[in-house]
Amino acid sequence: MDKTIRPIESINAVITVPGDKSVSHRAVMFGSIAKGDTKITGFLTGDDCMSTISCFKKLGIDIETDGENVVVHGKGLHGLTAPTELLDVGNSGTTIRLISGLLSGQDFVCRLNGDASIQKRPMNRVIKPLSLMGAKIKSTGDGYAPLEITGTGLKGLEYKMPVASAQVKSAILLASLYADGETVVIEDMPSRDHTEIMLNYFGADITNQNGRITSRPVKELYARPVTVPADISSAAFFIAAALLTPNSEITVTNVGINKTRTGILDAFAEMGADIKIVNEHLAGGEPVGDIVAKTSSLKAITLGGDMIPRMIDEIPVFVVAALAANGTTVIKDAQELKVKESNRIATMAQELGKMGAKITETEDGMIIEGGQPLHGAVTYSHLDHRVAMSIAVAALNAKGETVITDADCVGISFPNFYELLEKITL
Ligand code: S3P
Repeated sequence: MDKTIRPIESINAVITVPGDKSVSHRAVMFGSIAKGDTKITGFLTGDDCMSTISCFKKLGIDIETDGENVVVHGKGLHGLTAPTELLDVGNSGTTIRLISGLLSGQDFVCRLNGDASIQKRPMNRVIKPLSLMGAKIKSTGDGYAPLEITGTGLKGLEYKMPVASAQVKSAILLASLYADGETVVIEDMPSRDHTEIMLNYFGADITNQNGRITSRPVKELYARPVTVPADISSAAFFIAAALLTPNSEITVTNVGINKTRTGILDAFAEMGADIKIVNEHLAGGEPVGDIVAKTSSLKAITLGGDMIPRMIDEIPVFVVAALAANGTTVIKDAQELKVKESNRIATMAQELGKMGAKITETEDGMIIEGGQPLHGAVTYSHLDHRVAMSIAVAALNAKGETVITDADCVGISFPNFYELLEKITL
């Protein structure tokens, strides 16, 4: 599907965006290996989380779905059964990496694969630490999917993370539930900690002392209700749209504001954005609040270091904001962008370049010249949901119409993105 986005005059709206992708995946995975029924509300029905549900159904778990309400009939830590067919993770890096940790400790064999993008996502980053725990993982693609995992007994491990990655950390922590001793993951820079929070909520024993994350095996996990907060990664597109559009104000309600995820709000604040968080409260151990953003005149900043893992998925839309800022923005330490659903350094520079943006790609980020007026163009999503949504935000304040080809990939994380965009810009 192609999507045409036209420039708008202003935004004034109170909106709710879909549930958090990371939390939704984890609620299904952890619910499946907990004893009892996990009732999930606010579940993200995007394609990635549906891939997780499909994999766990094939592993013998009964999962009822009714839109954003999901019930997982968990069978406990040792209740999964051998699948009779390949586990298809679709486009979901979170599914394939987390499930690899979990499957390493079972007593059966599984085969895993996904789409063309998944087959280009590096898997050695999980194969290496899991193999050190004793896992038997064969990768036909030499470090890439398809994978074959033969479940076996695992041992504890002390592992210093070479890259900040919540997916790798979570794979190790899931394997640690099946290890015969303590497992320690050492993080230099904190990555999102939803796994630690939710596993503990289900009865695991995981502590974090200054980046030294220790997991001690427990006998069982127990089902608990999970309320999924709205996804800050999805909210970020609408926050950016309000900041960049004249005479605008938007409130995004019930957004997850876990400190490991709010880098984008800190970056926007440093650029001079008018953003407030109100109605803060806790839901299932995760902090939640309403985010209010108003039209702002932004200035360029330098982004790098531990800000990068705290906003890794929001960098594409941050680039769009940087294009409207006064001055030259530098993004560094962001090599991880090259191994996302697309190489986001290249795809963002290329597509926004078609709209008149001046972006120089560097080894570990980009240099973005602010203040260049954008014009409409025919652009391509590269089948990357966050690239498509970032182009849409840029198009709102460009001169003329923008077409996004293969625009329906937004269904990965934000199925009603275009409908919501149309509604608030009427
Ligand atoms: C995720 C972690 C991040 C993020 C992805 C979701 C997770 O990936 O980009 O969209 O749910 O753990 P990395 O941990 O590989 O950076």
